[in-house]
This record gives sequence, C-alpha cells and structure tokens, in this order.
Amino acid sequence: MAIRKIIIYPNEILEKECKEVTKFDRKLGIILDDMYDTMIKYDGVGLAAPQIGLDLQIAVVDIEDESGTIEMINPKILETSGSQTGPEGCLSFPDVFGEVTRPFYVKIEALNRRGKRFTFEAEDFLARAIQHEIDHLHGILFTSKVSRYLEVEELEG
Ligand code: CO
Repeated sequence: MAIRKIIIYPNEILEKECKEVTKFDRKLGIILDDMYDTMIKYDGVGLAAPQIGLDLQIAVVDIEDESGTIEMINPKILETSGSQTGPEGCLSFPDVFGEVTRPFYVKIEALNRRGKRFTFEAEDFLARAIQHEIDHLHGILFTSKVSRYLEVEELEG
C-alpha cells in the first residue's frame, strides 16, 4: 500500500476519456488499495484513476457512511432521477469549491476488483460523489458544472 501523487489541474490526463479495465489481476488490487490510501490521506470522499496519472476506468468512493468503500471499475450509469444542488470540491483542484447541480438518485452498474458485475443505488451526497468520480473517467471535471464558485468562509459558515 502506498500514497500516490495526486495530479493537479491543469494536466491533459484529467480531461481524457479513460480506457476500460480488461485485466483483473493483482496489479489492479494494488491500484485500488493505493487509491483508497491516497483518498484517505488527502481527506477526499472519492478518487478516480486519472487523478493518480492512470487513464483507466477505476474509481473509489467513501463518504464514511454505512455503505463503506465503493470500488467501481468500468462503471456505467443506468438510471438517474431528481435533482440536488450543493457544494463540491476535488482533490485535483485544491481550495476550489463550487455549487453543482446533479441528479439526487443514481443507479450504476460496475465491476468489482475480481471482475464481478454489480449494481448499486445511491442518493443524496453519496450519489453526488459517485457521479463526480464517474465524470472523471470520461474527462469531465466538476468545474465544467459549477453554477457558482464558493468562498471557503461560505462552506464553513
Ligand atoms: Co474530483
């Protein structure tokens, strides 16, 4: 397990379509473990592979709720509904926060680290985090969806 270096915007890997994972080997497990360690170390609630310099469709999310850590490989959004607007940030954009509107509910399909397919449903902040990370895998950054940038004081207030 190791802490990886986080790629800070601007960097072309952050705006690329990532490749689908085809090998479910020990190396993939190490990448996922390192992504988890890196996310925790930098106090994130999610991390996508391009943020550690890998153009692969791998993301982890953990908002410290009862869902635990969600590992998503080649994830696809099957369904969304509703709407939520709230503050968002990103480990690739230190000290940048903005209001983003996203669906309130999301249903995804993805593969786990053993290559087994699963579906997962989430609402509210967990749905937001999942959608933010899946966007990363398609080179979409949250800043392209910000309706209003926030000052740090507004977040703490
Ligand atoms: Co991000």
